[in-house]
Amino acid sequence: MGAILESVAYSGLSFVLKQLIDRVLIEKNFYLLKLSVLALVGLGLLKQVGFLTSELLYKYAIAKISATLRVKVYSKVVNLPLEEYQKLPLGEWVGRITNDVRSFKDYSEGFGIKVFRELFTALFLTAVLIYFDWKLFLLFLLVTPFLLGAFKFFGAKRKKYSRMYQEKFALFLNFISNLLENFENVKFLKRGFVNFLTKEKVLKLFKAEYKLTLYSATYLSVIELLGYLFAGVIILYGGYRVISEEVSAGTFVAFIGTLFLLYNSLQAIQRTAINYRALQPVIERLREVLEKFPSERGGKARFGGLKTSLTVRNLTFKPILEKVSFKIPKGAKVFVKGPSGGGKSTLLKLLAGLYRSYEGEILYDQVELRDFSIKSFRSKVFYLSQNSAIFNDTVRNNLLVANPNATEKELILALKLARAEFVLSLPKGLDTVVGGGGVQISGGQKQRIALARLFVTNPEVIFLDEATSALDFPTEIEVLKNILKFHREKTLFFVSHRWELAKYFNLVLEVKEKTVRVLA
Ligand SMILES: Nc1ncnc2c1ncn2[C@@H]1O[C@H](COP(=O)(O)OP(=O)(O)O)[C@@H](O)[C@H]1O
Ligand SMILES: [Mg+2]
Repeated sequence: MGAILESVAYSGLSFVLKQLIDRVLIEKNFYLLKLSVLALVGLGLLKQVGFLTSELLYKYAIAKISATLRVKVYSKVVNLPLEEYQKLPLGEWVGRITNDVRSFKDYSEGFGIKVFRELFTALFLTAVLIYFDWKLFLLFLLVTPFLLGAFKFFGAKRKKYSRMYQEKFALFLNFISNLLENFENVKFLKRGFVNFLTKEKVLKLFKAEYKLTLYSATYLSVIELLGYLFAGVIILYGGYRVISEEVSAGTFVAFIGTLFLLYNSLQAIQRTAINYRALQPVIERLREVLEKFPSERGGKARFGGLKTSLTVRNLTFKPILEKVSFKIPKGAKVFVKGPSGGGKSTLLKLLAGLYRSYEGEILYDQVELRDFSIKSFRSKVFYLSQNSAIFNDTVRNNLLVANPNATEKELILALKLARAEFVLSLPKGLDTVVGGGGVQISGGQKQRIALARLFVTNPEVIFLDEATSALDFPTEIEVLKNILKFHREKTLFFVSHRWELAKYFNLVLEVKEKTVRVLA
């Protein structure tokens, strides 16, 4: 609507110009001069109303779409099966959620409404031009193949470097997050070489970014040049027609003025179109995440916990585990051992339903794991790995993520059972922010806070993958005893390198050389 208003106003200006020259300047009509000025101001106002409505509405819509898109991509990423997530480095995922959506917004803003507005303007202006002098207009049409050729060439370049830019940005993001995650370790690495690795990524990013601008700038200058060339030809022929009195001077001047307006519109359309070429790879990357990667899919069965036993039959997950079979009764406390790299973590991830592309069967009672609804299965399973995820947030929120309904009393008890009572003696207690910007805590303290989550929930099956590895031995024993007492009836899988702990368990699984053996 706004776009149409604006383009009507724009084309109206050409008529005022024609009247101004033919009737006012040549016929010396003062009354018409005043009228023309009034019309000018009116049309200018009309144009601004059109501009504001279209611009604001459009930008709002784009921002809204981008926000929705961001949430969509984020949800897709967190719902990826683990093995799919591992196919791309962290930076790629972060890049798509952040930078790609941002680029989508940036490129789209220069698109859409603007192109409508310019298309309308171009349409009106063309009509005006044909009305003025159709012969001259035909001459102008000769420029179009050149414009199209330029668009094709530069558009392809823009597309190529836009894709490259998003890719290099993700690589850079990945590298920088590796660096920052290992802040203290990096300080002791050879700085020169680390800088070399960083600069390499920055330079590649720079090159893509620079080419992206280079090709849009040269493109704009090429079409501008074409414009001047054709203006010359038109002025030559048009001027000749005025001299031989085929058309009036007013028509000719108005024609040239309108032509410049039209060319401006065409330039804007082309600029938009070339932006669209840069937008394409961004959309492709976003669509790849949304459409190409599968989401975790569960079945319909409800998981109420183990009733009799967990049976693994011919479980193969290449190349780590091959035809593994064993049976674990409900309530068993299982100690999992084996050489590092033997496949302990992989086995736990399979049993916990994180990896889902295995062959064979994992049967909870009689039901295959993948037939359970993901939500009902996860709500009854607790899984914790060695590098436990602690959020850079309050201790309270770090516990509530496991159970938002936990009471103050339960939170405090959980901290005590996980031997993380140190939190309670901090000035802000449960509301202490841990990590950057807050209180720094040790690896062992992080593990204890993560373990405290086990005591605010009521899972049926528990997987702990070296989740107590950073605790001192006496503390580890205490925490383990608390787990065994608090979750007495539950089935527990516990990976550890501390063989001394095996005596607290009634089953031992040994994972090595692609197989799993049950030791008594
Ligand atoms: N997703 C995966 N795809 C292929 N190989 C993997 C994957 N995850 C781990 N591995 C490899 O599988 C082996 C077992 O790893 P892991 O289960 O972590 O061993 P453990 O926990 O016993 O130390 C290692 O050789 C590791 O490199
Ligand atoms: Mg492991």
